[in-house]
Amino acid sequence: MGVMADIELVRGDITEQEVDVVVNAANSSLLGGGGVDGAIHRKGGPEILAECRKLRAGHHGKGLKTGQAVATTAGRLPARWVVHAVGPVWSQAEDRSSLLADCHRNSLAVAAELGAATIAFPAISTGVYRWPVEDAARIAIAAVNDSDTSRFSIIRFVLFDQRAYDAFHNALP
Ligand code: APR
Repeated sequence: MGVMADIELVRGDITEQEVDVVVNAANSSLLGGGGVDGAIHRKGGPEILAECRKLRAGHHGKGLKTGQAVATTAGRLPARWVVHAVGPVWSQAEDRSSLLADCHRNSLAVAAELGAATIAFPAISTGVYRWPVEDAARIAIAAVNDSDTSRFSIIRFVLFDQRAYDAFHNALP
C-alpha cells in the first residue's frame, strides 16, 4: 500500500473544487436534479448532460443502479471529470448502508481507472435522500478508509453546512 491519502474536510461548494474528480450526488436517471446535481449541471454546463444522455442511450439504458458510479466530462468546472454516483434514499425499514458505502468505493474505483490523483465528495444521500448526516458520515469515512486509496494524494469531503462538517469531523478516525 502506498502512502494513504488522509481524508480532508472543507466547508464549501463542490463545484468550486480544483481536483481531478468531483463526485456528483446523482439519481439513477443521470438527467440532473437539485442540490449537488443541480449545481454541477448549472455550473458545469450542457456538455455534462450531453454525456449523461449518451450513457443513458448506451449501456446505462435503464439508468444507473443505486450504489453505482459512472464518469463524464466536468465541462466548465475546475475539475477534469465528474463521477456521478447514485446514493440510496434513507429508509427506516431497510438498512441500505452497504449501498451508501458502495457509492464511495465505486467512485474511488472509477476515479482510479481514469488516473485521477485528487477527488472531492459531497455528503451523498444526506439532502433530498434524507440520510441522517451523522450516520452517513460514519459510513462514508469507513468506506473510504476500507478502500485502496494509495494512488490518491487528496481525498476531500466538501460539506455545505456546519452540521455536516461537524458530523464528518466526528466520524474521522
Ligand atoms: N456543494 C457541496 N454540497 C452541497 C451542495 C454544493 N453545491 N449543494 C448541496 N450540498 C449538500 C447538501 O446540503 C447535502 O448535505 O450535499 C448533500 C447532498 O444533498 P443532495 O444534493 O440533495 O443529494 P442527495 O441527498 O444524495 O439526493 C440526491 O437529489 O438533487 C437530487 O438529482 C438528485 O435525485 C437526486 C437526489
